Amino acid sequence: MRSFDEYKDFINSHLTDLIDVAGPEASVLGEAMRYSLEVGGKRLRPVLLLAACEFAGGDINEALPYALSLEYIHTYSLIHDDLPAMDNDDLRRGKPTNHKVYGEAMAILAGDGLLSTAAETVSEEPLRYHEDPQKMYSHLKAAHEIISRAGAHGMIAGQTADILGERMVPTPELIRFIELHKTADLITAPVRAGLMIAGAEDETLDRFTSYAIDIGVAFQILDDILDIEGDPALLGKTLGKDAEQGKCNYAYVHGMPAAKEELHRLTSEAKEALSVYGDDAAFFTALADSLETRNN
Ligand code: IPE
Ligand code: IPE
Ligand code: MG
Ligand code: MG
Ligand code: MG
Repeated sequence: MRSFDEYKDFINSHLTDLIDVAGPEASVLGEAMRYSLEVGGKRLRPVLLLAACEFAGGDINEALPYALSLEYIHTYSLIHDDLPAMDNDDLRRGKPTNHKVYGEAMAILAGDGLLSTAAETVSEEPLRYHEDPQKMYSHLKAAHEIISRAGAHGMIAGQTADILGERMVPTPELIRFIELHKTADLITAPVRAGLMIAGAEDETLDRFTSYAIDIGVAFQILDDILDIEGDPALLGKTLGKDAEQGKCNYAYVHGMPAAKEELHRLTSEAKEALSVYGDDAAFFTALADSLETRNN
């Protein structure tokens, strides 16, 4: 296993390899897609995919197109999330949001372009392995995992509840639904897909799924905490937006001390799910700890 930064450097050095548009007539589309990718980001999701694949004995070169696809889907979700019709944000990753630079129509299209590039990639990759049906099957499972958790069964369902939740009485169930789908699904998908590419057993998949759901929900709880008391210079986003828009979230409904307690409980539970692996899972347990104390 490598370090987080080694995986991240590998991702960053290939980040836009798969970005391509039909012709010069659409070159601004390619520019808008690259802009939001290159502007920065933690690369948590693609790093998780590569690390999970390597944990289970797989090859990160084989996993790379799926990892890039995850970052494309995540970046598209942010471009659309920032649109005036959604969260209406001007700042992302410390820079003007996509629609502020390219206009709303192009930002919508850049998001669509990123999502469909990801779908194109993950549906094409398994075909490379047509002479090895076992491997092709593993890759197809990974492809399905990524696309299904991005869509109406996953992230998009969470985003829908997040938007509708602005006008609803928040309940613990609604908050959990939002956290699970808008955020934890795009964190669970890379962990499971990475393991699938490596052909991991169901038991490994189950343990890592518990881990990923816990760190995913914790990730959103901390995102909501940071919207209240984070450092805007480190976050690269405008703070205080959730309260302004009446978002349903853990900190807002249960209060700050309870949110921090839940963040800590979920982090401990995530690490516990991997305890049978001891030091072999050190990358993932250390990552859970660093995510609990992140400030961006
Ligand atoms: C922000 O995700 C959106 C949420 C799901 C909370 P990240 O905090 O991972 O954003 P980047 O990729 O580092 O910009
Ligand atoms: C965004 O949640 C989740 C997705 C884009 C899927 P938020 O709206 O809280 O994310 P930020 O705070 O804008 O990054
Ligand atoms: Mg949002
Ligand atoms: Mg937002
Ligand atoms: Mg937020």
